[in-house]
Amino acid sequence: MTTAYQANSVIDMDSLIISPFERDDIKDLVEIEGEAFSIPFKEKDFLDIYDSEISNVLVAKAFGKVVGYVSFTVIIDECQIINFATKNEFKRQGVGKRVMEALLAHGKKHGVKKYFLEVRESNYSAIALYEKYGFVPVGISKGHFSAPRENAVLMNLELE
Ligand SMILES: CC(C)(COP(=O)(O)OP(=O)(O)OC[C@H]1O[C@@H](n2cnc3c(N)ncnc32)[C@H](O)[C@@H]1OP(=O)(O)O)[C@@H](O)C(=O)NCCC(=O)NCCS
Repeated sequence: MTTAYQANSVIDMDSLIISPFERDDIKDLVEIEGEAFSIPFKEKDFLDIYDSEISNVLVAKAFGKVVGYVSFTVIIDECQIINFATKNEFKRQGVGKRVMEALLAHGKKHGVKKYFLEVRESNYSAIALYEKYGFVPVGISKGHFSAPRENAVLMNLELE
């Protein structure tokens, strides 16, 4: 059976809407987490973010559904990227770039001077995305990730 969702897998980037998440987006977020990560965030994790003063999620929506997102925490002028993903069927269309640009614009508005994250050593596509926006590797955290166990590359973006 072809769903409307599959029939619309090419996104018109002009119609992509990026905004802070709403509770109603959590179901879509949990679905994408399940596709993207071996230890995915569950509904409760997103509810905790929803109630948090310091954490947030920016969601990119097309066809009325979440197609990509970034979750993050801002403390004073530093932003830690928690998770970043695009729904599988919408990868490589520029959603990740649009979400990163929205995060940097959000950060600018809130006085963020430094971004940091940990990414699996083997995750070349995510590392390429981060490098495209000026993130640089600053270290390795041995055995940081589990399922499977893997080193993390620590990446920073420091603004003037
Ligand atoms: C990383 C991820 C978010 C990129 O999302 P996306 O919407 O496909 O990204 P875009 O189409 O905007 O591509 C942005 C850039 O990322 C890099 N990139 C994305 N996919 C890539 C791939 N398969 N191979 C190489 N580079 C890739 C490229 O530099 C690309 O820029 P370009 O198209 O100008 O070459 C997506 O692959 C994903 O959800 N991965 C699984 C979850 C994950 O690992 N998240 C990171 C956790 S730290």
